[in-house]
Amino acid sequence: MKQRIYIFDTTLRDGEQVPGAKLNPEEKLVLAQQLEKLGVDIIEAGFPISSPQDFNAVKTIAESLKRSTVCALARGLDADIDTAARAVENAANPRIHTFISVSDIHIEHQMRKTRDEVLKMVDHAVSRAKKYCDNVEFSPMDASRADIDYLIKFTKVAIDAGATTINLPDTVGYAIPEEWGAMCKRMVEEIPAFKDEVVMSMHTHDDLGLATANAIAGVVNGARQIECTLNGVGERAGNCSLEEVVMIINSRYKDRFETGINTKELVPTSQMVSSTMHLTVQANKAIVGANAFAHSSGIHQDGIIKMRENFEIIDPATVGAEGSAIVLTARSGRHALLYKLRELGYEVDKEDVNDVYQQFLELADREKEVSDSALKNMMEDLVTQ
Ligand code: KIV
Ligand code: ZN
Repeated sequence: MKQRIYIFDTTLRDGEQVPGAKLNPEEKLVLAQQLEKLGVDIIEAGFPISSPQDFNAVKTIAESLKRSTVCALARGLDADIDTAARAVENAANPRIHTFISVSDIHIEHQMRKTRDEVLKMVDHAVSRAKKYCDNVEFSPMDASRADIDYLIKFTKVAIDAGATTINLPDTVGYAIPEEWGAMCKRMVEEIPAFKDEVVMSMHTHDDLGLATANAIAGVVNGARQIECTLNGVGERAGNCSLEEVVMIINSRYKDRFETGINTKELVPTSQMVSSTMHLTVQANKAIVGANAFAHSSGIHQDGIIKMRENFEIIDPATVGAEGSAIVLTARSGRHALLYKLRELGYEVDKEDVNDVYQQFLELADREKEVSDSALKNMMEDLVTQ
């Protein structure tokens, strides 16, 4: 039987921390509704103690959504937890997510506490959240830089206090897949609850460009939830990208794992996030970038025209993209040019192909990309010559 991997989207919380990407409550609600349509299992709607506006946004989302679990973030402090609880109290499926740092660097230099004091805080925070809500997620922040024996102890305290999901954050994007995977494996071996009633979750950041690889390494080693964002938006270099992990699972691990994501909504959701947050998606972004299914070199174009699978591992339709695109540049070959001309309604006689191609190359050397209209003009000029 396939293992279900829960998709926890934090675009509206970690993603919204990107400078300039702040959303108002109306924008958050529209995006949350789209995330539900996408099939996200858990939506982290915000950090209610952070501002009255964010409290209202989380509350409105909690009261509107019927299927997805709505989660509110809280530091391990009483006021945070109480405020988060009030924000999600009317949700059909509420969750409180609370966190406390586990690494010595944070314990000594940020919290200025001892390890024992912090263990007591974990017990207190999770027990308090549990009084409001059965569904409590706890994150030992900066897990990737923690002493693993202490991390295990810390996690056990959170589980004993009632946490139902333990989310392991690579807060500073320091992890590498082999070490991170081995850490997850050890966690599952030492904490039997991870095989059953408690879900182990991944929360990875992209400072070394490894957020997606680390999340997948975690899943292969027993994690059952991935925290991610559309387009990988998030603090600093961003978070693990939702579209990437979902399509990795769908295309490379489909015999072992499955998600509840409706992949046809990936590109529409990515575009909505990009325009609402005013964050452009890089053209070469995997799955959702403008060039993700665009082919410009002659060899690739020839292969695609013969059979799409020659140079594409994903059918663009499955992710809601428009389709494979043949982009004409000075690196394109005759085959692609004739294919494009045929699409535009021009049939070129065999004996004219070389002349038309030479004209095209001159045009392509002047322009970075030859548009349909430029190609039409070129053909009209040739006809009237
Ligand atoms: O990166 C991080 O550690 C976080 C926590 C709040 C889970 O975002
Ligand atoms: Zn984070």
